[in-house]
Amino acid sequence: MGDMEPGIAMKPIEWLDNKLKIVDQTRLPEHIIYLELDDHRDVVLAIRELKIRGAPAIGVAAAYGIALGARQIDTDDVNRFKSELEQIMQDFSDARPTAVNLFRSIERLRKVAALYKTVDKIREALVDEAIAIHTEEEMATQQLSELGAQLIKSGSTILTHCNAGPLATAGSGTALGVIIEAHKSGKSIDVIATETRPLLQGARLTAWELLQEGIPTTLITDSMSGYFMRQGRVDCIIVGADRITANGDAANKIGTYTLAVLAKENGIPFFIAAPTSTVDLSLKSGAEIPIEERDGDEITCIAGIRIAPQGVRAANPAFDVTPHQYITALITEKGVAREPYIDTLNKLITEVT
Ligand code: MRU
Repeated sequence: MGDMEPGIAMKPIEWLDNKLKIVDQTRLPEHIIYLELDDHRDVVLAIRELKIRGAPAIGVAAAYGIALGARQIDTDDVNRFKSELEQIMQDFSDARPTAVNLFRSIERLRKVAALYKTVDKIREALVDEAIAIHTEEEMATQQLSELGAQLIKSGSTILTHCNAGPLATAGSGTALGVIIEAHKSGKSIDVIATETRPLLQGARLTAWELLQEGIPTTLITDSMSGYFMRQGRVDCIIVGADRITANGDAANKIGTYTLAVLAKENGIPFFIAAPTSTVDLSLKSGAEIPIEERDGDEITCIAGIRIAPQGVRAANPAFDVTPHQYITALITEKGVAREPYIDTLNKLITEVT
């Protein structure tokens, strides 16, 4: 709890054998609170309430959460065990709809569970698979950060939206991973972070993570971004993604689409950085991505304080879709894809490495 020394690495998600330790991201940056969860229902709630958030981190947390839930099932009968495990997986599926990483993790764990015939073996294999998912995300985010950093010119001012840093990935970060790597390689980088209404992931988390790294950062409100672009004060934009479809359309935090259109209008490169675990080739286009609709209270209140009159209607879509034609390049751990994404993405994902 309390302020952390700059440069001290924080583990947003940690498996402690019989518990899942997470940093409560809703309390940052004011308070660094670690939660030790030993009930899978608390992990589902933590995902729903954004205590753990960001597409890759949600996928990692869900995998550990299912492994945790498997330990809670009180039976040695494998058929009964499997049917209770299926219900646990369903609870995680219902947590949040947009980030595909969640569903990818569930699918992987479901396949692993099907391989074994005893409860003990399944429990053990689920933990191993969750650890493998976590390790893969760590490696993928580090690789894509290094690849993406090569695209960044020294002296650039980069605008980013929401939070796509280590907190969001349980690894090196995606958009912020690229920025941090470029900074570490000695490039002079300035960042403009949008506050990201309604839940202020940019103001609370991105600004905090960048300052920890010693990267010069300016915080703006979401509605200022067009002004800064038009003034020539943004050299490129990098954001993360929650789901990328076969044609290269990308869902990300609400407001991303607006940024992408404004970037095109102002001739500014617009990059999306994401591990291939965020790519969903089963969907043809962004029109098929389920968009999470959250509680209107997140709009009518800020930090628990009501700012809008009682009785007003509030809409709260948590994500939007940026059509592929606005995306200059997709930065993944397997390479950088450019139009036509329908070919390049497919090649990246299916290529044997
Ligand atoms: O609602 P959130 O905070 O989970 O939304 C997160 C984002 O939109 C991130 O930009 C995205 O998950 C990419 S994180 C590497």
